[in-house]
Amino acid sequence: MKILVTGAKGQLGSDVVSELEKRKHEVIGVDIEEMDITKPEAVIRVMEQVKPEAVIHCAAYTAVDKAEDEKELCRKINSDGTKNIAKQCGKQSCKMIYISTDYVFDGTGERPWMPDDDRSPVNFYGQTKYEGEKYVQALAAKYFIVRISWIYGKNGANFVKTMLRLAEKQDEINVVSDQIGSPTYTADLKYLLSDMIESDRYGIYHATNKGYCSWYDFAKEIFRIKGLRVKVNPVTSNEFPSKAKRPKKRRLNLDALKENGFTPLPAWEDAVKRYLE
Ligand SMILES: NC(=O)c1ccc[n+]([C@@H]2O[C@H](COP(=O)([O-])OP(=O)(O)OC[C@H]3O[C@@H](n4cnc5c(N)ncnc54)[C@H](OP(=O)(O)O)[C@@H]3O)[C@@H](O)[C@H]2O)c1
Repeated sequence: MKILVTGAKGQLGSDVVSELEKRKHEVIGVDIEEMDITKPEAVIRVMEQVKPEAVIHCAAYTAVDKAEDEKELCRKINSDGTKNIAKQCGKQSCKMIYISTDYVFDGTGERPWMPDDDRSPVNFYGQTKYEGEKYVQALAAKYFIVRISWIYGKNGANFVKTMLRLAEKQDEINVVSDQIGSPTYTADLKYLLSDMIESDRYGIYHATNKGYCSWYDFAKEIFRIKGLRVKVNPVTSNEFPSKAKRPKKRRLNLDALKENGFTPLPAWEDAVKRYLE
């Protein structure tokens, strides 16, 4: 299949490109230099030239705190940029995977979020990803919306790398313990996204590694696996202020994957062990 991947240099996009190439698809990976998604004419030009059968849209503005100060740019990329792609996917009748986030939910409630639950983001980044979802639903006929969370991989900055860097200088680290979610390894996610784009089982999915933990639990597991003697202190989100508000209950229900014949991702503990090895 001929597949266009946006954000091909990013943390997730780069892994997705390599898996699709391994599967012998014809992959065209583009980043801002080849196709600035905020420019409708650039999206039309590239998409009409490439004529992809499918698009995996990984490009985004991902600086969650900075987004509160750069609202215009964040909306231009996540909302308008996604609109440009979804519109063209609709016109060219090609499949589309839009990567979204647990930030579309407000982090309240006592059970993991279901794909069809009401969306009510609490920060600006989440708001723009939600707007992106609405454009995809309105404009792209053959779409998958895949909500992911807390990703880490080979490329780019992530929580695991940050913890290991801090551990080089500090023997005690404060980590937030009142946000619960699922760390997700891009090397696991790339298989699922490739399986999805090869299928026609369209819809909204949640895709994270299995199981839940807090950032505090995650940090402790990283240091345990690495055999590092670092004291991890649990702190509340209030004690660790950030520009953007963070939802607390961020667990995503993954049942739709199995129900639609997709292989769910392994447990998060297993994934982080493989990553660190
Ligand atoms: N990171 C997470 O924990 C997380 C959690 C949930 C959902 N997500 C979603 O997962 C997807 C992938 O995230 P990621 O962490 O892999 O992101 P990333 O590493 O920040 O990669 C995003 C890519 O998009 C590119 N980009 C930015 N503006 C663009 C534009 N105007 N036109 C074209 N490309 C542009 C970036 O280029 P520059 O580097 O040059 O800006 C970068 O290469 C995103 O949709 C994100 O919202 C991420």
